[in-house]
Amino acid sequence: MTKPIIAPSILASDFANLQRDTEMVNNSEADWFHVDIMDGVFVPNISYGLPVTQALHKHATKPLDVHLMIVQPEKYLEDFKNAGAEILTVHYEACPHLHRTIEQIKSLGCKAGVALNPATPVSVLEDIIHDCDLVLIMSVNPGFGGQKFIYHTIEKVAKLKALITKKNANTIIEIDGGVNLETAQLLINAGADALVAGSFVYSSKNPVETISNLKNLQVT
Ligand code: DX5
Ligand code: ZN
Repeated sequence: MTKPIIAPSILASDFANLQRDTEMVNNSEADWFHVDIMDGVFVPNISYGLPVTQALHKHATKPLDVHLMIVQPEKYLEDFKNAGAEILTVHYEACPHLHRTIEQIKSLGCKAGVALNPATPVSVLEDIIHDCDLVLIMSVNPGFGGQKFIYHTIEKVAKLKALITKKNANTIIEIDGGVNLETAQLLINAGADALVAGSFVYSSKNPVETISNLKNLQVT
């Protein structure tokens, strides 16, 4: 049985101790660092940007999974690639020429992800699923960590899984927002391959153990 990919979101880390919190992830069973970039326009919050991503990359021993919650992401793809991104995920809702943006990400040598807000149906990706290395289903409205999980997204994961199977595509299903052991189990059962977890990991007593508990969940 393949284990889920675990991507702790550094949004929930202590930025004054970023190196310490990065080492924690390095020394855990986590697979990727999830890096949340917010511009205060696409989402109602500002997080951090290129300098923090570069600093993280200096210490991280695992791939950076960069989630761009910004308008006109195509303007900054190369900068984030140069800052260390291996996966670049843009929002469907922010890209009028999504296919072109995906091609641009791939031409940089990165894996291309597309994120869907809770109100955006999976069906919008029907004609483009083959081009997506990853689809990120938002299980909260993007902009903040620590929000309540939106349960209808479990059904979206199942629908996406069915679409990927029907089209014989090779796309990773990632889920982001409100992930804890209980929601993670439901998501894995529905077909999720990769779990982002912010506050659940960083606010736990033993983050390394929490990551391990997520990593060792199995389809039931
Ligand atoms: C929300 C971000 C998430 C966030 C998840 O806009 O995209 O990655 O950090 O945080 P939790 O796991 O606390 O919901
Ligand atoms: Zn995210």
